Amino acid sequence: MKKLFKITAVIMALALVACCFSSCGEKKSGKIVFGTNAEFPPFEFITSKGIIGEFDGVDIAIAKQIAESNGKEAEIQNIEFDSLIVALNNGQLDAVIAGMTITEERAKSVDFSIPYYTATQVMIVKEGSDIKAAADMKGKTIAVVQGYTGETCVKKLGFEYETFKKGTECILELVNGKCDVVVIDSATAEKYVSDNEGLVIVKDESEFKNEEYGIAVAKGNTELLDQINAVLEEMLASGKIADLSAQYIDSL
Ligand code: ARG
Repeated sequence: MKKLFKITAVIMALALVACCFSSCGEKKSGKIVFGTNAEFPPFEFITSKGIIGEFDGVDIAIAKQIAESNGKEAEIQNIEFDSLIVALNNGQLDAVIAGMTITEERAKSVDFSIPYYTATQVMIVKEGSDIKAAADMKGKTIAVVQGYTGETCVKKLGFEYETFKKGTECILELVNGKCDVVVIDSATAEKYVSDNEGLVIVKDESEFKNEEYGIAVAKGNTELLDQINAVLEEMLASGKIADLSAQYIDSL
């Protein structure tokens, strides 16, 4: 009888350990950790009731869909834009979804999904500004966000510029008359212009070419990349991404 009791106890203990292991394992593989920089409406921003915790926007909706389609949960880590690729390659993140433009430079250190959104750089100026094209920025005080493709574009033009950590900081400089122009992505520019009276968008399609946003994973992570691409393909085909963009741009 005693022996039977002992055996039962051992079996129960083993079952407990096994159960713990499997649930630990489940927890680890049960979520996808997405890195973003939630300073980029309508793609990612912080709000009181976001769709994942305090985070909301087109990218956050896409991240949620990717996780759900794979029976997982999406976790969002909000970090500086400039640190996203480093964090991805450190293993801190599974993927980066941050309105990130697919560039050759970035593609050297990460793998990108299929493109899911087309944007372009634009200039934001005060009404009445004499900046009508990219070339007119010569000699002006230009503000860009550090590490954004807007910075790369201005650098390529050979103009001097100042960098800030956030788009809203650039806009504050412009509103306060401390700079003449902000170069940033089109959809985000629309949001800033609708929030601040007296600002307008100036486009220069011959200078600022189309950019495409992609989701980044660590080089060689084909398993996750395939899952991401499958969901993006579906969301693009059904018009869901276009709907989300329209919805978030309208509600801003
Ligand atoms: N599209 C631009 C780039 O790739 C800006 C992206 C900024 N994204 C953000 N979540 N803050 O450089």
